[in-house]
Parts: sequence; C-alpha cells; structure tokens
Amino acid sequence: MKCLICYQSKTGTTAKCAEILKKKLEKRGAQVTAANLAAGRPQLAGYDCIITGAPVRMGKIPKETKAFLEASRNELLNCKKTAFFICSAFPAQTQQVLLENFPRELLEASVCAAGFGGEVDIHKQKGFDRFMARMMTNLVKHYKAAMPSVREENIEAFANTLCGGVDKEKN
Ligand SMILES: Cc1cc2nc3c(=O)[nH]c(=O)nc-3n(C[C@H](O)[C@H](O)[C@H](O)COP(=O)(O)O)c2cc1C
Repeated sequence: MKCLICYQSKTGTTAKCAEILKKKLEKRGAQVTAANLAAGRPQLAGYDCIITGAPVRMGKIPKETKAFLEASRNELLNCKKTAFFICSAFPAQTQQVLLENFPRELLEASVCAAGFGGEVDIHKQKGFDRFMARMMTNLVKHYKAAMPSVREENIEAFANTLCGGVDKEKN
C-alpha cells in the first residue's frame, strides 16, 4: 500500500506523530511518504491511502490544512483510503474538534479519524501562545491532572485500522 501523510505542525508534536505513524505503517509493509503542508501541497496522484494530520489551537486546525482539504476534496473522495488525525491537549473534545474542522463528507468517507494526544511545552511558544500554554500548564498542576502527552496506543490502533491489523514484523 502506498501511503501519503500530509501534516502541519506548529511546535513539532504533529510532525513527531506523523513520523511515528510512518514507522508503524512501514512495519506493516506500507510504502510511506510524509509531506509537511507548510512546504506546499504535495501531488496526491498514485497513492492508495492519504492521511491528513493537524494540530489544534483554540479549537481550530490551521487554515492552510483547511484550505488543503477543500482544494483536494475530489482527490480525497476518490482515493481508496483516507484518514485524519489531530494533535491536541484535550482528548475528550476530539470528536467535536474533528466534526467542527474537517468537512463532514470527508470524515464520512474516511477509514478512521482520531486524536493522537499532544504536548504543551511553554518554552516552544511565543507571545500569546506562550501565555495560553502557561495557563494550561498551571491548570493541569492546580487540578493535579496529567500533562498532555502523545498517545502511542492511539497511533498503533490507527495504523492497525489502516492496514487491517497486520504487523509484518510480528508475524
Ligand atoms: C495557544 C495554544 C492553544 C491551544 N489550544 C488547544 C485547544 O483549543 N484544544 C486542544 O485540545 N489543545 C490545544 N492546544 C494544545 C495543542 O494542540 C498541543 O500543544 C499540540 O501538541 C500542538 O501540536 P504541534 O506541536 O504540532 O503544533 C493549544 C496549545 C497552545 C499553545
């Protein structure tokens, strides 16, 4: 299976998740290309599977990702398999964020759509983002909650769904 992972990342977590997913798909025998949408829109022809991943800020995915999804609507609907993921701090809101940010028809036609968790590091933020990241970190400490983290098990399940559960190295 020839896969393309299109992603955007503001502070590196979505890029890291795209890389983890790439390795997991490759372990299952897929041929995978990862493309950062910040570097321009990749060619979509010739792929059996196209995955789009984006970070969430203030409930929204980046406008460039939204524009990519709108411009690529037909290719995505005609692709054999599509899937979507987000990186975010609040997993309880994953379904709502997906529904509010990704075109409904693309979600309905996809094999899976999921949240991979996220990371909040105040040192990677600037200006208002840094202020928000500090607020989030303080709230987490105040409520003695766990800091957001990447959910590798979600990426594993996503890779399994896309590849029909086959991990070639394990067989
Ligand atoms: C300013 C700011 C706003 C954020 N807003 C949200 C949000 O609305 N919902 C959420 O679940 N996570 C939110 N997050 C957490 C990010 O989604 C998380 O840090 C993610 O890992 C960022 O991915 P990236 O490093 O690829 O940009 C926010 C983080 C920052 C710094």
